[in-house]
Amino acid sequence: MEYIETRYRTHTCGQLRKADVPKVVRLAGWVHSYRDHGGLVFIDLRDRDGLTQLVFDPDSCGKEIHEKARFLRSEWVISVSGEVEPRGEGLTNPKLATGEIEVRVRSMEVLSESPTPPFTPDEREVVNEERRLQYRYLDLRRGAMQETLRTRYRVTKIMRDVLGEAGFWEIETPFLTRSTPEGARDFIVPARTAPGMFYALPQSPQLFKQLLMVSGCDKYMQIVRCFRDEDPRADRQAEFTQLDVEMAFIDREDVITVIEGLLRRIWKEILNVEIPNPVPHMEYDEAMGTYGSDRPDLRFGMKLVDITDLAHQTEFAVFKNAPLVKCIVVPGGSKLTRKETDALAEWAKGFGAKGLAVTKVLNVEQALKEKVIQSEAEAKSGAIPAGDGLHLYTGVAKFLASIAPQIVERVGAKHGDLLCFGADSPKVVHKVLGELRLKMAKDLQLKPSQEFAWVWVVNFPLFEHDMEENRYVATHHPFTAPLDEDVAKMDSGDRATIESIKSKAYDIVVNGSEIGGGSIRIHRMDVQQKVFGLLGITPEQQKNKFGFLLDALQYGAPPHGGLALGLDRMIMLLRNLSNIRDVIAFPKTQTGHDVMCQAPNTIDERQLKETHIKVVMPVAPPAKPTGA
Ligand code: AMO
Ligand code: AMP
Repeated sequence: MEYIETRYRTHTCGQLRKADVPKVVRLAGWVHSYRDHGGLVFIDLRDRDGLTQLVFDPDSCGKEIHEKARFLRSEWVISVSGEVEPRGEGLTNPKLATGEIEVRVRSMEVLSESPTPPFTPDEREVVNEERRLQYRYLDLRRGAMQETLRTRYRVTKIMRDVLGEAGFWEIETPFLTRSTPEGARDFIVPARTAPGMFYALPQSPQLFKQLLMVSGCDKYMQIVRCFRDEDPRADRQAEFTQLDVEMAFIDREDVITVIEGLLRRIWKEILNVEIPNPVPHMEYDEAMGTYGSDRPDLRFGMKLVDITDLAHQTEFAVFKNAPLVKCIVVPGGSKLTRKETDALAEWAKGFGAKGLAVTKVLNVEQALKEKVIQSEAEAKSGAIPAGDGLHLYTGVAKFLASIAPQIVERVGAKHGDLLCFGADSPKVVHKVLGELRLKMAKDLQLKPSQEFAWVWVVNFPLFEHDMEENRYVATHHPFTAPLDEDVAKMDSGDRATIESIKSKAYDIVVNGSEIGGGSIRIHRMDVQQKVFGLLGITPEQQKNKFGFLLDALQYGAPPHGGLALGLDRMIMLLRNLSNIRDVIAFPKTQTGHDVMCQAPNTIDERQLKETHIKVVMPVAPPAKPTGA
């Protein structure tokens, strides 16, 4: 750590080495642990840089300080001065950077006392999350939390360095603005000076960055907070941070080159890990068709294999009548019990499936040896020959007798695998089997093929059809450009044609996590109006909501595009954490609360009056009658 010498310290608690013997130093920090050996008191003193062992020996520090040291307790804050000494033979601690020395204290000042804290920064202490968040300042004293905050700072510094060198300007855009369509609900702020009017906090700086391109700023970046009123999840917070980027006079590949270069530097500097060069691209259609997701986790196989043609040859009604039948091979999945596979079928229903057909792939001889099958007779009664000494066993095996060898060959199954089938509309099949891949990888603790699996997913559809509202919605956002060859399709008036339009949108995906997304934007007013029209935004609404954008596009807009990386999700990957709250200094709980400072909270009458707001509390549903 870079330190500034002050009256409290000359060095940090992680800094002193054997070469510093016999300097006289001052250290300051928190009492991490204490051991009173009668004659000698040992304290591990902690700051964000590390731990240093202090020795209080009455012969060096005098009786008074030694006596005071015996009263020190966890998390008291002290400053000491003393001499750096080598630790005795056999007393060094190779796990500690300062493990070869200790500081023989001469004087001490107690700077702050502490009652017994609700928990200590000891990494081994398991503390309930609500409590951690309530005392976040104590929680952040833990080494792992400090390392995450340090990583976060280092990453944002690399972002500023790399993009700064490449000619990007960091430009701030407003927080008090109006609704920005990224698909979530807005957080709103009442405007005191305009009764009945509200600002919206930005879901992203999307429109401002596009306007900066119209302004000729050419290359913009911003590490920026975004606000989306959606339910928090393990990888989602209502308030999160993006690295937002926009460039003029570029194509998709130019954005990709810049972002890949940046990610490469980050992964190298933080983890010393190389990112493949170039990162492979995958068409959206392939991602959905083969992995059942637009953010495929490529660390595992279990590809979705189309067997519709074979399935239609059977008499199994579930297969015969389905528009699409796909299969995944779960390696080693035949060890699942009947109860477990039944539970999977129930689980699949949660994703809209009618069930989940499964069967095991076994080599009967081997299965007898492994006692998966108990007797020859049992094998004979239930095993369906599937070629190469393999058999299908249990589940839907009996329905597949006519196509067993072809299925096994097509999906490449081997002894011990479980075959899982989805039979339904493409949407349902892809959803269920896509989710099942991830579940199986997790439940069976499959070994990932690589630590980080990177992929750019490209050529997303421009529109999705919202069944409930019977209208199109933008897959990315309404400012994304269609592929040049698809522009004319917008006039077709035909739903299938319109849904086949591809956009110049791209996502960067790592291990199944979408860490960034962006697109080339529409830079012509007529095209933008057409897209708004297809999204059901009337000319009047266009003028009201996006008039400033349409105006700007009239006045000479350069071709432009960009992307935003989710900083929090990147830090989760870099620190191998599965909870987004662990990478944010002061996060919100699952229910959107800050339990430390108790937000949200009421405001006083005067504030309500000033902002012309009257609160109408929701009416509680009538209480259910209890008992007779
Ligand atoms: P998008 O909405 O895809 O694009 O967001 C970009 C990235 O931000 C991260 N992210 C989130 N992280 C944590 N919590 C959330 N609630 C959350 N929502 C999104 C994701 C995502 O990939 N304006 C466009 C970008 C552009 O087109 O340039 C945008 O915001 O990692
Ligand atoms: P059933 O004919 O409904 O008894 O189903 C036979 C097996 O097929 C059961 O294991 C179901 O879970 C499964 N199944 C039913 N419908 C589907 C479907 N649409 N896709 C995949 N499996 C299904």
